[in-house]
Amino acid sequence: MNFYKAKDYQDMSRKAAAIVSAQIILKPDCVLGLATGSSPVGLYERLVEQYRSGDLDFSQITSVNLDEYKGLGPDHEQSYRKFMDSHLFDHVNIDKARTFVPDGLEEDSEKECARYDSIVEKTGGVDLQLLGLGNNGHIGFNEPGDSFAYGTHCVELTKSTIEANKRFFASEDEVPKFAYTMGIGNIMHARKILLIVSGKAKAQALKDALQGPVTPQLPASILQLHQNVFVVADEEAAQLL
Ligand code: F6R
Repeated sequence: MNFYKAKDYQDMSRKAAAIVSAQIILKPDCVLGLATGSSPVGLYERLVEQYRSGDLDFSQITSVNLDEYKGLGPDHEQSYRKFMDSHLFDHVNIDKARTFVPDGLEEDSEKECARYDSIVEKTGGVDLQLLGLGNNGHIGFNEPGDSFAYGTHCVELTKSTIEANKRFFASEDEVPKFAYTMGIGNIMHARKILLIVSGKAKAQALKDALQGPVTPQLPASILQLHQNVFVVADEEAAQLL
């Protein structure tokens, strides 16, 4: 595991963006596994800046996102498709036909999960998977539980995730209760993984993920078993390590 300590959120975003842009420069037709939430916003801003200054070209990139709320369509302000469009895809020269996010409007979970797994497989595999860390140690929406789920699946979000994500919605009641997420198997198949973590609310989860036992009770702990992980954490997040 490669660990980089950053001073603060901005520094974390710059360091993480350098890793993603190196990936794009080294393999212009790479497959990026992408995440949403607060953690990657600064990183995406930097990628957009580098695109605008002519240093990055997204024209051959394929992307697969980790997750999507079940029940939210692409036009919903809080859907992860909308997030990706407004923070990255609308500002760079990526071919949107090659950007994939689970379809939150598909009601048949089994069908959607099988469809998404086959999309991920057809890309030839993720070269660099970006991950944020949930306060409860989740990655994607793989919530703490009794076992690691392998492929894309539909999850019931935990109280703590709904609590953490309600800041984006008018009220807690509006936070969807279910989501589609890539599984731990999908994530672990990525050739490289980049985990970005900021803020003191994540400090315990980060310590448990990197230094605790590997257990489905702390889903990110599985990353200890991956051969090629880069962690960029700011001082507040890294304070218990
Ligand atoms: C988002 C995702 C989640 C977030 C995590 C941290 O696509 O998969 O696992 O990365 O909940 O969220 P933030 O960055 O908002 O603290």
